[in-house]
Amino acid sequence: MKINFLDLKELNSMPSGNNGGNDILTEYLIGRMFDIHMESSQTVWDRKMFDEELKREGSGFLICYSDSGDADGGDNRLALKKFTEKDIDPALKIGLQSLIAGFFIYYNVLDEMHILDITVSKEIQSKGVGSLMLSTVIKKNSEAAGIKYFFLEVRTSNITAINLYKKFGFKIFMLRKNYYEDNGEDALCMVKES
Ligand SMILES: CC(C)(COP(=O)(O)OP(=O)(O)OC[C@H]1O[C@@H](n2cnc3c(N)ncnc32)[C@H](O)[C@@H]1OP(=O)(O)O)[C@@H](O)C(=O)NCCC(=O)NCCS
Repeated sequence: MKINFLDLKELNSMPSGNNGGNDILTEYLIGRMFDIHMESSQTVWDRKMFDEELKREGSGFLICYSDSGDADGGDNRLALKKFTEKDIDPALKIGLQSLIAGFFIYYNVLDEMHILDITVSKEIQSKGVGSLMLSTVIKKNSEAAGIKYFFLEVRTSNITAINLYKKFGFKIFMLRKNYYEDNGEDALCMVKES
């Protein structure tokens, strides 16, 4: 199976044409992102926050998808392997039949990127998709957008996410006590210099 990335801000900024195709696709993709978010994230955004973030100047949305995620076994094949850069297929075109594997939302201001959310669909976590999304966003933004610092907050209990960030050179610089409203959990603030 091949995977690819879609820049949703780019899609959203294109003219939609007479049939409103891009608007329909954007609406569908936000819906799928919201589903993945609800099944996998502990920090809950409501659906409206996705729409608002998409409109905000400086925000970025990367969607990871595959076109081989059809009903007859595509999902099962996903679970069998670990993804690496050679699985990326630049020729794919996203459509309503595509399987959405995960997404990444960030916000750029001056030379800083603030990572707002990175989530991989539950059934394919720990297969390398999170790493591919993070490396793609870091590479693209440090070269083209002149981003020097990458910031994020993560729950102290979220060992998988902390391991992912450490793998890419993020360092802890501060602990925010009682940061998360749902359970009063502390947040680790992490930064990476490009
Ligand atoms: C956090 C998340 C995005 C990581 O994406 P992923 O595709 O599962 O991660 P990867 O397979 O690329 O693994 C990246 C690193 O994380 C660590 N990791 C992966 N799965 C792990 C697990 N089950 N337990 C501990 N560490 C794990 C490893 O260090 C791994 O690197 P390695 O494979 O080179 O050793 C994903 O698990 C997720 O969506 N979690 C729910 C949402 C969330 O918590 N998002 C983060 C908010 S701050």
